[in-house]
This record gives sequence, structure tokens and C-alpha cells, in this order.
Amino acid sequence: MKIIIANWKLHPKTVKEVRVLAAALNKARSANKVVICPPAIFLSVMKTKFNLGSQDIFWQDTGTFTGQISAPMLKQFKVKYAIIGHSERRNLGETDHEVNLKVKAAIAAKINPVLCVGYGLTIEMQDEEVMSHLQEQLSLDLAGIDPKKVIVAYEPVWAISGGDPHKTKKVATPEHAERVAMFIRIKFKVAKVLYGGSSNAENAAGFLSREIDGLLVGGASLDAKEFSKMISIKY
Ligand code: PGA
Repeated sequence: MKIIIANWKLHPKTVKEVRVLAAALNKARSANKVVICPPAIFLSVMKTKFNLGSQDIFWQDTGTFTGQISAPMLKQFKVKYAIIGHSERRNLGETDHEVNLKVKAAIAAKINPVLCVGYGLTIEMQDEEVMSHLQEQLSLDLAGIDPKKVIVAYEPVWAISGGDPHKTKKVATPEHAERVAMFIRIKFKVAKVLYGGSSNAENAAGFLSREIDGLLVGGASLDAKEFSKMISIKY
């Protein structure tokens, strides 16, 4: 069984839209483990039959940290997974050290960390370059952590869509994603390696018929029909 994680990012805008989308997804028949990561403020209104995840997590439980959300807070809303170190957060200044602390906090709270790597890559990079970059990034992000407790999502930054699954232009090849996934699995012994970046109902099988444990889905996860199709297939 593959794991398919919906990263809703900064969508939708209203509680009403959240309810409509969650209800539409509840009608889907899933053949995979599905996780939905809405914006944190909507966690409390999510009525879903799937697992819930957060898009971030802070490393302290409580204290003078304006705007942060901690593991014990997330757990009250049945959050079982946390996306950590997404490239869109790293672009805003999140460091490998902070990512490392967040992964540790998630594990301590028994929340499954979904550690995103791949920051800074361009489409021109060869496999070897990608791997040497990931070697460095993962060594920092996983320092002092039991890798068996971590799910890694490999997301080549150039492949992350602008949000519309039907306008996808660039996507990594399944061959490339598989080679990188095998590298991460063998070198770092993590629990699972997912692929993320412009995945949709059309290309999902190409990735999931390979040695790739699942997908982190952005744009396509906001389209109930598209995402329902992705999760209904037995890969
Ligand atoms: P995308 O986003 O599927 O819209 O490319 C993936 C992600 O950023 O996690």
C-alpha cells in the first residue's frame, strides 16, 4: 500500500470551501493510505475519514513563540503526520537546523515526520549532483535522529507546480525519482521515500509502479475528482 499525502498549502480560503472539499474527498474509495494536510487553522473543522497532517510543527511545546503551533496542540486535532522543511518554507528562511529540531519534536510526540528535501535543485542537475546535494541536506536534517521513524519526500524544486494540476509543464521522470529514492533509502535507511512535484492522476501510476513509496501532492490535491482518482488506484 502506498501513502498519498495532500498538501493543501494556503488553500482553500474559507471554512465553507474546506467543508465542501473534505466532503467530496470522503466519497472517494481509497486503495492507499491517505493523509490530508490543510492549513492549521482548519484542522478543527476537518471532517475526514482520512488521516490528518499538519504543514509544519514547532519544536517547543509551549512558551514565548508568537505564531508557532506545537506538537501537543496538533495532537488534540488527531494530527498523525507533519510535513517538515517544505521548500516553500525553506525559501522563507527555514534552516536545516530548524528542520532537524522539528523532526525531533514530531518523533518525540509520536507524529510521523514527512521530511521534504530537494531544495535548490534545478532541472539541469544530473543524478550525481542531486545525490551529493541530498547527502549534505539529509545529513544535517537527520542528525541525531533514528531514520526509521522518518518519511522523506523528495521534491525537485523545479518540478513543484504553480498549483494547477492541469497546467503542469515540468515533472521529474519516474526513472530519476526512483534512482533518487533508492539512493535515499540505501544511504539513510529511512522508513519511506515519497516523490513530490506536479504529480497528478495522469502521471501517478508512473511513479507508484516503481520503488517509490508514495506521493506528496500539492495542486492536484485541491481538485476532488483528480485526487480521488489518484488515491483510488491500487498501485
Ligand atoms: P505540487 O506540489 O504537486 O503542486 O507540485 C507538491 C508540493 O509542493 O508538495
